[in-house]
Amino acid sequence: MKILLLGKNGQVGWELQRSLAPLGELIALDRHGANGLCGDLGDLPGIAATVRATQPQVIVNAAAYTAVDKAESERDLAQRLNAEAPGVLAREAAACGALLLHYSTDYVFDGSGDQPWREDATTGPLSVYGATKRQGEQAIVASGCAHIILRTSWVYAARGGNFAKTMLRLAQERERLTVIDDQWGAPTGAELIADVSAHAIVQTRQQPGKAGTYHLAAAGHTTWFAYAKHVLAHARQAQPAIKIKATEVAPITTADYPTPARRPLNSRLDTRKLQSTFGLTLPPWQHGVDRMLTEIL
Ligand SMILES: NC(=O)c1ccc[n+]([C@@H]2O[C@H](COP(=O)([O-])OP(=O)(O)OC[C@H]3O[C@@H](n4cnc5c(N)ncnc54)[C@H](OP(=O)(O)O)[C@@H]3O)[C@@H](O)[C@H]2O)c1
Repeated sequence: MKILLLGKNGQVGWELQRSLAPLGELIALDRHGANGLCGDLGDLPGIAATVRATQPQVIVNAAAYTAVDKAESERDLAQRLNAEAPGVLAREAAACGALLLHYSTDYVFDGSGDQPWREDATTGPLSVYGATKRQGEQAIVASGCAHIILRTSWVYAARGGNFAKTMLRLAQERERLTVIDDQWGAPTGAELIADVSAHAIVQTRQQPGKAGTYHLAAAGHTTWFAYAKHVLAHARQAQPAIKIKATEVAPITTADYPTPARRPLNSRLDTRKLQSTFGLTLPPWQHGVDRMLTEIL
């Protein structure tokens, strides 16, 4: 199987380089491209040419405009990368008969209520990022290509910056931390996303009827506040020498912490469709977070 991976150096892209490698020939590109192939999602004719030149059986798009707040003032760029580029990839996938695996987000929802969102729930993005990601989903579906869209949430990886690392740094610098306690979701590891993606590709190639949109997140739910408390408790226990200065971690509301982009309060995703279709069990969010903490501490 020949697989074209875009966005190879992002959180998910990096882990996909590992999880996709055993499936066949992997052509992995970052935005700078390689060997005359364009990997820049902003270059729409360029990425179309890349698909035509490589003729993959599977295209995995892990590249995206992910700067949620900056997107509010860079709508055109977010639109090109998150909406138009996936549309181009989808049309090229349809033309060459490839399966397209693409990632989307809990930010396509308006965050109302307290129930986990199902795949068929009405979307209502609150931000430019969420709106452009939703347009990307729609462009893929409209193309008629065989596709898997995985909506995920609160992604972290050991490599690069992440929320846990920020909390650990701040807790060593400050006596008091304040963390949002009214946004609910499930921290989901890039490793898990990449492994599930590989399973979904293999199964959908064998059973094309499995194509579709799925919610993929670790099991359970938490808030950023409880997540931060978990990180600090784990750090204290696993690394007693760590000098945590913070004596208080206080919960605040989203309203207390204004940001350019509005974020959903309820990002709980109902993952039953993914688990039953692909015969997978999604582990509790603490498993992946603790593993990541063990790696970074
Ligand atoms: N992070 C989250 O919490 C979250 C939550 C839900 C869904 N998602 C979705 O999950 C997917 C993977 O996200 P992630 O967390 O792995 O994001 P990430 O770490 O920000 O990676 C995104 C990648 O896209 C690349 N990129 C940006 N502009 C590009 C361009 N013009 N051409 C080609 N590549 C470009 C970035 O390259 P550079 O490193 O060079 O900038 C980066 O490697 C995305 O579709 C995202 O929308 C993420």
